Amino acid sequence: MASPAAGGVVIVGSGLIGRSWAMLFASGGFKVKLYDVEQQQITNALENIRKEMTLLEQSGSLKGSLSAEQQLSLISGCGNLAEAVEGAMHIQECVPENLDLKRKIFAQLDRIVDERVVLSSSSSCLLPSKLFTGVAHVKQCLVAHPVNPPYYVPLVELVPHPETAPATMDRTYALMRKIGQSPVRVLKEIDGFVLNRLQYAIISEAWRLVEEGIVSPNDLDLVMSDGLGMRYAFIGPLETMHLNAEGMVSYCDRYSEGMKRVLKTFGPVPEFSGATVEKVNQDMCMKVPDDPEHLAARRQWRDDCLMKLAKLKHQVQPQ
Ligand code: NAI
Repeated sequence: MASPAAGGVVIVGSGLIGRSWAMLFASGGFKVKLYDVEQQQITNALENIRKEMTLLEQSGSLKGSLSAEQQLSLISGCGNLAEAVEGAMHIQECVPENLDLKRKIFAQLDRIVDERVVLSSSSSCLLPSKLFTGVAHVKQCLVAHPVNPPYYVPLVELVPHPETAPATMDRTYALMRKIGQSPVRVLKEIDGFVLNRLQYAIISEAWRLVEEGIVSPNDLDLVMSDGLGMRYAFIGPLETMHLNAEGMVSYCDRYSEGMKRVLKTFGPVPEFSGATVEKVNQDMCMKVPDDPEHLAARRQWRDDCLMKLAKLKHQVQPQ
């Protein structure tokens, strides 16, 4: 639980990700102010958060030690940015992924904040050097990239600008731990950060295998969900190597030649267009038709699965 003396958190942009952050910070006992250019978005966010938290409490999945009502009492809306950020210790920007818009927001924040607050962007792929260059408070700026849906997938990538102060990274790391998230430090900015680079490497080879007629789209997905993914929910690829032989050195001794041989056969970056899109789309739509209702139902199922997996991980991996 946050100390009552600690400053609160401000969410700038009350859409999908802003709402999730608000719930997470409230679960850690922090006061949260939701800001948006559209008043209606704030109203919708508050309603939506109330509904979600009530359901989570009913199913025994609410995070933190406070009741839903106590957490809800920590969250309020505010239609004035300067008022919202007054005395804040952390500002989490969650406006749409548009460089000009985000730069405008950080320039605006730069004029009204002091040296005590952390300015954090939820950006999925905009580099900190693009986002924060020219911001006077650049030492206090970083990207804290969550994974959708953040309430069930705890990873947060912390990515610094070259001028970000180490204390900003440390403070944000500690804050993320405090709200039950799992932060990682990306030591130097790189396009795609780490999560998306790994994700794109997998998507890219998946696409080539389907394009070359090696495996069907559905079977490709099964290789992940019933194969690699089973392990990856608990241990990463490097620990997998370590455990799949007598340690890492033994794994490299035994398998490096085979890995290099296979890796050399990987093809170029796919175009993600044409006949392969049609083929993959056909298989996907047979499983999940791409109308809003079916997609929403499948997302709900995915989130339920993730919630159960999060519980299991908590049981088997004491933090
Ligand atoms: P969204 O479209 O659901 O919400 C954006 C919100 O920002 C809207 O409520 C909009 O009214 C508000 N907004 C627009 N201009 C504004 C301004 N000038 N000042 C204040 N608020 C403003 O977008 P979403 O999905 O929540 O994404 C937000 C950020 O999070 C993006 O940078 C995105 O890349 C990142 N992100 C998104 C993920 C996802 O799966 N949706 C996952 C991880 C990160």
